[in-house]
Amino acid sequence: MSPDFSKRLLVWHKRHGRHDLPWQGTRDAYRIWVSEIMLQQTQVAAVIPYYARFLQRFPDIAALAGAAQDEVLRLWSGLGYYSRARNLQRAAQLVVERHGGVFPRTLEEIEALPGIGRSTAAAIAAFAYGTRAAILDGNVKRVLARHFAVDGYPGEKRVEARLWQIAEAQLPPRAIERYTQAMMDLGATLCTRTKPGCGACPLSQTCRALALDRVKDFPAPRPAKAVPTRATHMLLLVRDGEVLLEKRPPSGIWGGMWSLPELEDGARARAHCRGHYGCTIAEPEAMAPLAHGFTHFKLNIQPLLCRVKKVAPAARETGQMWLGVEDALGAAIPVPVRKLLQRLLAADGDAA
Ligand code: ADE
Repeated sequence: MSPDFSKRLLVWHKRHGRHDLPWQGTRDAYRIWVSEIMLQQTQVAAVIPYYARFLQRFPDIAALAGAAQDEVLRLWSGLGYYSRARNLQRAAQLVVERHGGVFPRTLEEIEALPGIGRSTAAAIAAFAYGTRAAILDGNVKRVLARHFAVDGYPGEKRVEARLWQIAEAQLPPRAIERYTQAMMDLGATLCTRTKPGCGACPLSQTCRALALDRVKDFPAPRPAKAVPTRATHMLLLVRDGEVLLEKRPPSGIWGGMWSLPELEDGARARAHCRGHYGCTIAEPEAMAPLAHGFTHFKLNIQPLLCRVKKVAPAARETGQMWLGVEDALGAAIPVPVRKLLQRLLAADGDAA
């Protein structure tokens, strides 16, 4: 344990921490939980408008549990990592089933809910109930890896276990809420990855990385590994200002969201449109390609503009819908689809 680590952090937070974020000043576990899920992998500024809209539409656990999944995904559209939204709703349903609709109190019960790991469970319990438990998100890993000069990539089990040990050893006896927020704030505002503000840091006197003049060497980066690439064609079937959206299967990337039809072999676009959507199309027009990065792979998208000449008067398939481009932009669509639809709108504007 580093002497006064938590004391100096607590004093710093009074003056320099963040005190008016929309999820602060409440003990409502549901509101805290939603914020912590949104803040996984997403920055505060991006989360704020989504958070307000989400809570307005789903003010409590029962509202979220009873909503249509499509509506939940629609309010998440643009935030990315949509399994977070699906897990959040599934967890709300489990809270209703297992805990009579009241968010559980113990770390064990909280962590048993989908989408909630050890660090998120600790953050929720600290903020909602004052539970004395350590957090270890990406920012906190950076603070601790630097201050205690912990070698190794934190994604490695052994390194992570060491960081958990350190995180628990620093917990103050009291004021766990403020301490938890202070750790998050220090990592987000001062001990940043590329421009650490060591001159203003309350922990600089004891920071081992700083003493070694090696602040930027900690934490060690993820070992380089080639990211696999996948290629796909996305079809923009356009007819009278409307575009065809197709619902993705419930699991996997973009599970349950509305997306554009995809196929691997672009040369088969015409047959595909006839076979699956009953559409006769003009020669597909290749639009500028688009790349989308996921955590574990890169998706190279070749969009094909398919102008529809005729639609067979067949029964409409479920899981397909024709929507005006503006309405499609309001649906639960993933980011690259949003970008492509925006291109369509911009092209329309040019033509007008
Ligand atoms: N990141 C994760 N949780 C957070 C919180 N409660 N406030 C600010 N940033 C966060």
